[in-house]
Amino acid sequence: MQHLFRRALRAIALVGVIAAAVPAQAHETLKLDAPKPNLAPTPPMGWNSWNKFKCDVSEDMIRKQADAMAASGMKDAGYQYIVIDDCWQKSRDADGNIQADPERFPSGIKALADYVHSKGLKFGLYSDAGSLTCGGRPGSAGHEFQDARQYAKWGVDYLKYDWCHTGTRNAEAAYTIMAKALRESGRDIVLSICEWGINQPERWAPKVGHLWRTTGDIYDAWEGKKDWSMGMTNILDLVAEREQVAGPNAWADPDMLEIGNGNMTTTEYESHFSLWAMLAAPLIAGNDLSRMDADTLRILTNKDVIAVDQDPLGKPARRTLKEGDLEVWVRPLQGGEFAAVLFNRGKTPADMKLAWDRLGLPATQKADVKDLWSKKLTKGVSGSYAAKVAPHGVVMVRVTPQR
Ligand code: GLA
Repeated sequence: MQHLFRRALRAIALVGVIAAAVPAQAHETLKLDAPKPNLAPTPPMGWNSWNKFKCDVSEDMIRKQADAMAASGMKDAGYQYIVIDDCWQKSRDADGNIQADPERFPSGIKALADYVHSKGLKFGLYSDAGSLTCGGRPGSAGHEFQDARQYAKWGVDYLKYDWCHTGTRNAEAAYTIMAKALRESGRDIVLSICEWGINQPERWAPKVGHLWRTTGDIYDAWEGKKDWSMGMTNILDLVAEREQVAGPNAWADPDMLEIGNGNMTTTEYESHFSLWAMLAAPLIAGNDLSRMDADTLRILTNKDVIAVDQDPLGKPARRTLKEGDLEVWVRPLQGGEFAAVLFNRGKTPADMKLAWDRLGLPATQKADVKDLWSKKLTKGVSGSYAAKVAPHGVVMVRVTPQR
């Protein structure tokens, strides 16, 4: 008996030593046991409801978008995700299960996912790491595993996960919990992190999610700021100033596209699309696909520009020159090719030049240059490529050095 008592005392003392070695404020660590599924070898392409429809979402509208994506040529150009952003959710039931708004989604989310899948497309939803979403609907805090299992049952392929009403939560930990829940859900689900770049996501998001927002929200304007949102060129400047951490299965997201929403000119939308492709950005259309004009469709389905975005090397462009309103962006492509954008932010046309030294090529190197908007091919160019660039416009080229 005494022997047992002594053993117990020794055990208690040992526990005391171990406890003393662990600092009192140590954080719980959460390990992502399952590897991140390789669901985004190139930047995801799709459509999301927020930019155009905000909270005005419904199953009829979403079905129309899926129909249009499949029939318009968008699907053939590579777009595949149909994502419902905020406001599809209404409440939780007595067991905590998330419920869609029954008036707007009377057939339920499963039926809608099935419909989207029947078009050969993939289906996405939105939630938030806080108690509430940004639109005030129930968030996933404390329900991560339950929600992930529900998404898997419904047939969800993509989750955009937002950062409103998160209080003192640690972003890396909160997104890691959802990543773990999704990886253990039994279904392949892309995780789109949306904490607006405020918790240094470049340090942790690449191992947690497939894409992560780097800025506040975009709105449909060439430039400007309103509340939390910014115009297209404001976002571009924020991105240009930061180190570009991104690559296959881990993409930096400068927010969704505004092409076709009506508040920029056709030239400005061409610039928006070109620059997002240069950044290896996820190409998530944000317009009403069921009512696209010819220019909107032409821009969104420019296969040469999309091929730059989807280049398998996955290296985002850098701004290699900024002189007043004139900028040169360069992106290395697989196989020794390059993409470049001559960008004129000014109000008058500009004569611009892409000098070979910006590409790291000797001036004598001959290359074929394809203008990706006019489709003009110029063979055997050496030294530099000159072009006139429209106000607020780009000349975007693909440069193929001759062997
Ligand atoms: C945040 C996100 C947006 C959108 C809204 C929805 O602002 O950054 O992209 O999802 O919430 O409320």
